[in-house]
Amino acid sequence: MADDYVETTFVALKPDAVKRGIVGDIIATIENAGFKISGMKMVQATDQLLEQHYEEHVDKPFYEGLAEYMKQGPIVALAIEGVHAVENLRKIVGDTSAKDAHPSTIRGRFAHMSMDHADESGTHYKNIIHASATLEEAKKELGIWFSDEELHDYRHAHEDEVM
Ligand code: PPS
Repeated sequence: MADDYVETTFVALKPDAVKRGIVGDIIATIENAGFKISGMKMVQATDQLLEQHYEEHVDKPFYEGLAEYMKQGPIVALAIEGVHAVENLRKIVGDTSAKDAHPSTIRGRFAHMSMDHADESGTHYKNIIHASATLEEAKKELGIWFSDEELHDYRHAHEDEVM
């Protein structure tokens, strides 16, 4: 696929999603919306990867807890391709604060926590999934988590039936 509207975005299913066994459900939601998986792997996050990924947040008070949470188990890293993929995946994922996420979104369906509660109670703020916020961020994050060889170009049925 190649036109100005087709984008590839980065999605991470965080350790709580893997440990709760909801990876299949989340991936089905993304596939059912017509998106194509162009990269997928399970990976244990390291400090080095997380410092690159959350570069603009490393000096914030919540970063240490965020990094601890992201290292609690493997994540599933996904490269997702489709029309306006960046904007669409953010819509499917829902508000960063699970408390404010619409109940039909992934965060709204599988989480309910608020950052205030997490900060006050000293627990990790677990919100299931990450999706790149902008196309620029998607390109950067895909480069952090995937090598060129791990991103696959193939024709998907959705390109004929959905797009
Ligand atoms: S976003 O989605 O990037 O626009 O969200 P943002 O508000 O900029 O937050 C950036 C990431 O930091 C996480 N975050 C927190 N984690 C723990 N505790 C607190 N208080 C907190 N505030 C923000 C938030 O989940 C974002 O991570 P991702 O992986 O994008 O969800």
